[in-house]
This record gives sequence, C-alpha cells and structure tokens, in this order.
Amino acid sequence: MLRKLLIGTALASGLAFAAHAEDVKEVQMLHWWTSGGEAAALNVLKGDLAKEGYAWKDVPVAGGGGDAAMTALKAMVAAGNYPTASQMLGYTVLDYAAAGVMGDLTETAKKEGWDKSVPAALQKFSVYDGKWVAAPVNVHSVNWLWINKAVMDKIGGTEPKTFDDFIALLDKAKAAGVTPLALGGQNWQEATMFDSVVLSTGGPEFYKKAMNDLDDESLKSDTMKKSFDNLAKLVTYVDPNFSGRDWNLATAMVIKGDALVQVMGDWAKGEFHAANKTPGTDFLCYRFPGTDGSVIYNSDMFGMFNVPDDRKAAQVALATATLSKSFQSAFNVVKGSVPARTDVPDTDFDACGKKGIADLKKANEGGTLFGSLAQGYGAPPAVANAYKDVVSKFVHGQIKTSDEAVTELVKAIDDAK
Ligand code: BGC
Repeated sequence: MLRKLLIGTALASGLAFAAHAEDVKEVQMLHWWTSGGEAAALNVLKGDLAKEGYAWKDVPVAGGGGDAAMTALKAMVAAGNYPTASQMLGYTVLDYAAAGVMGDLTETAKKEGWDKSVPAALQKFSVYDGKWVAAPVNVHSVNWLWINKAVMDKIGGTEPKTFDDFIALLDKAKAAGVTPLALGGQNWQEATMFDSVVLSTGGPEFYKKAMNDLDDESLKSDTMKKSFDNLAKLVTYVDPNFSGRDWNLATAMVIKGDALVQVMGDWAKGEFHAANKTPGTDFLCYRFPGTDGSVIYNSDMFGMFNVPDDRKAAQVALATATLSKSFQSAFNVVKGSVPARTDVPDTDFDACGKKGIADLKKANEGGTLFGSLAQGYGAPPAVANAYKDVVSKFVHGQIKTSDEAVTELVKAIDDAK
C-alpha cells in the first residue's frame, strides 16, 4: 500500500527540485523526541550540525513508538515533500526502502567504515538491497525497571529477581501508600511493558519464537496465556488515572517519588538525566525480573530520503555527524540509550549506561538479543499495531480473559500478516 501511494510522488518531487543549483544548508528532521530528556539529546545533534553551518528545521510529532509521527511522515512523503531524514524504527525503514523513496548513503558508509562498526542486528534494518538507507542513532532496550531509590529504601525493598519477587515488591509499596507502578495507558506503553512480561514468563527462546518468528503454536500457547495473566497482575498496581498518560509523565511520578517503579525503555533514563538525578543515589535501574542476560532492543534510525541533489550534502553531513564516535557518546549519554557502534568507549556513561553497553555486548554474543515487537523490531508495522491493539484492549478490560486475549492476538496477527 505504501508503495502505491508513494511511487508517483517520488518522480514528481525529483523533478520539482531538479532546478536548484546551490546546496541548501538546512537539515529538515521529522521525529517524536518532544520530552525534556529527548529535547536535550536532540540539542546535541543540532549543536554539532550548527558548527558545520547547517540550520535545523524541526518537524516534531509527539507520541512514543512514533505512530503519530509515522502518519505525518506518510502524508509528507505522499505530497512529495521529503524531509532530509526521519526518525524511524526497524521494519518501517524497510517499508519505505521497498517503496523506492529512500536515498543511498553507501558512499558515506564506506568512507566512514559503518560496515565494521555497526552491529549486524542494526544493519539488517539500515541496509536495504545492499544500500545504506538509514543511519542508526542508538540502541535502546525495553526490559528495564526504573525505581525511585528513596521510596525503595522507605519500603525496605531489594532488587526483584523473579516475577514473584516483583509482585512482592509492588505489594510493599502499596502497603506504604505509594502508587506501586507508574504506567501511561497508551497502547504502545502497555505493549512495550508486555514485551518484558513475555520474556520473563516464557524465557528467551519463547520470546524469540512468539515475538520475532510469530510462531503460531507459541502465540496460542499456555505460556502466552500465563504472560497475559502476569500482565493482568501488574495492572492491578497502577493508579486509577493512568489512561492516556504520556510516558514521560509516568517517569516523572517515579522521579518525584509519587510512584515506586516504571517499566519502560531506557529513554526513561533521559528524563532522570534531565532532572539531574544520579543512578545509585536517586534512582535504580534493574533488568525486568527474570530477563537478566537478555536484551529486547529497538534502535532509532534516521531514515534518509531520496532528496533532490541540492539537499544531499546536508544529508551526508547529518549521517556523518550521527555516526561519529564523539556524537555517539555525547548524544546517548543524554538520551539514555547506548551507542549504535561497537567501538565507542563507555567512559562518559553513568552506571546504568555502562550496564546497558555491557548487557548489549553479552546478549549480542550469546544470541539473546531480540527485537522489541512493540517498538518496531519484531515484525512489520501492521503486525506490531495489531499486537499493541490487543494488549491495550486487554489492559483496559475490553478483552476480559487471557484465553480471549490469546485468541484475539493470534487472529489479529494472522490478519495483519
Ligand atoms: C523511541 C525513543 C523515544 C521513545 C519515547 C521510542 O519509540 O525509540 O527514542 O524516546 O519512543 O518517545
């Protein structure tokens, strides 16, 4: 569908811009980095480009997971109005590449040695048909707990190692009158948390089979039912006002001590960083109980469009800056993520960042690095959307039982495939 929509406009935009002669010294970027921590991270990039004389034309579209941003992007591209680049997740890059609207950064990639420094798990999504079509910015991972340290001390809690430990910890917070679990009731947040629940409930092999291979037997198994049971348990620890809450407001509840813990990707750490909070002193980062040793990842990519010739120099500047070692360190320290290259020292990262880098390396080597289904790295967008929809209906009581949830999930994924 994307292909049909876009194909005519690809030609039209090429012609429309062909007459320009001088390079346009501007980078137009579509993204969903609108929270405090995200804006701070983006400023690192704006600053680097400004030093090279490039102006920044911002196209922000709020909403984690990028659903709203991707709707806006589709409209822009259909109108032949290509941004220099757009933030994108995994399978979306491949969709646009298949539609023939992406540029070709291979020359820059060769010059900069991206083949050697970018891990294969990311190249799978940034290289299409042998050509580099996107620049990976970072690696995020979703199977984390973010805990307020003062609240943890107050309730006498310790690191939960199993799902049952986690429930016991949430009970302690409840008994102390603190909201145990900070959650934003938006489908992408709920599904992002459920990624971790599935890994914890079924283990690494099960996660891969169900959430990356979309294996039918696994999707309709008792283990998947148990995963929904576990999700239902977690939801009982959420405050009554969670519907529609933005993810960064949920993080703020933990930062302020109004809630004990948030289950969220490590972009949450960007919010702690922006609030000048220190790991170990103000907050704690633990792997989601029962998932230690595995990493569920997503990676923000800058998808590079086939812009007219006079805008290509700006695109190359953006791509080169993005994958430079210094940027990879400076940006990811602020963003909460870890570098998209394997050769960036962890010196400037805080304790959670150092752990993130070490965990990623170990998981990559040990075969326990898995794509997040909620975050665009498990399956193409139609399947991911079907998944988010079912999980959210379950959380909000429109799907009542785990049995029903599994039946709906299998059906929705089948329809979307
Ligand atoms: C992106 C992160 C972003 C988060 C919340 C995720 O999909 O990968 O970079 O911080 O959404 O907006």
